[in-house]
Amino acid sequence: MLKIENLSKSFNKNTDNEINIFNNFHIEFEENKCTAIIGSNGCGKSTLLNLIGGSILADKGQILLNDKDISKLREEKRSIHIGRVYQNPSMGVSPSLTILENLSLADKKGEKFTLRRLIKKNRTDGYIELLRDLDLGLESKLNTKVKFLSGGQRQCLSLIMATMKHPDLLLLDEHTAALDPKTSKVIMQKTRELIKKYSITTIMISHNMKDAVEYSDRIVMLDSGNVVFDKASENVTEKELIDIYREKLVQFVA
Ligand SMILES: Nc1ncnc2c1ncn2[C@@H]1O[C@H](COP(=O)(O)OP(=O)(O)O)[C@@H](O)[C@H]1O
Ligand SMILES: [Mg+2]
Repeated sequence: MLKIENLSKSFNKNTDNEINIFNNFHIEFEENKCTAIIGSNGCGKSTLLNLIGGSILADKGQILLNDKDISKLREEKRSIHIGRVYQNPSMGVSPSLTILENLSLADKKGEKFTLRRLIKKNRTDGYIELLRDLDLGLESKLNTKVKFLSGGQRQCLSLIMATMKHPDLLLLDEHTAALDPKTSKVIMQKTRELIKKYSITTIMISHNMKDAVEYSDRIVMLDSGNVVFDKASENVTEKELIDIYREKLVQFVA
């Protein structure tokens, strides 16, 4: 479904701060599966998602989405097929616009439109239904500006906006890391429900080993831009992952 071949990426090329983060990197993602990407800070997780989503370009290599090389496409073009939710609850939404305006914008993804024609009355019932499903009472706040919502409410809205056009691929970059444990659980459960309902292939970066095991089908660990662990989640325990981290830490300190 998604195939990454010979991917290379450096930052600050030809300077003292040059970082070669990926060097001939390969990985494949299967249709309708949720893969958790884990690994210590700076190992390249977000860079991988940025390369797939198109917010940065690869130096070399192919990114094949359903057999089509998207590696040279602009982010805007890729976003028609790829939904994203970020760690910061304000990144996936426009805080100064209302819930209705945000949902209308997401609904128009990939279309040309004027702001005056942004809101289509006949779509509103569908939005209300999506919001009612969340069970956060947002359906009665359609005209509230998103900046007045809590982080958890914004993240739920981001999730709906990222999935409402049923993208082929959903990229989640630690999308619950900024939330309290209770809200984080609500978002994780909602995430699982939406990706199952719309059969969306998902890549989810997670800092939480328990969530990684519980909510994914496969776990991939990166270390300095390399895959160092790749297993079906049903064969992995949280303890096993924490032990690998501990071992790395010991090597690092020794
Ligand atoms: N836009 C950028 N410019 C320069 N260096 C970057 C950029 N993005 C990431 N890096 C560097 O690449 C490495 C991997 O970063 P990142 O992918 O964000 O790691 P993480 O696994 O924590 O998400 C880090 O050393 C980071 O400082
Ligand atoms: Mg990151």
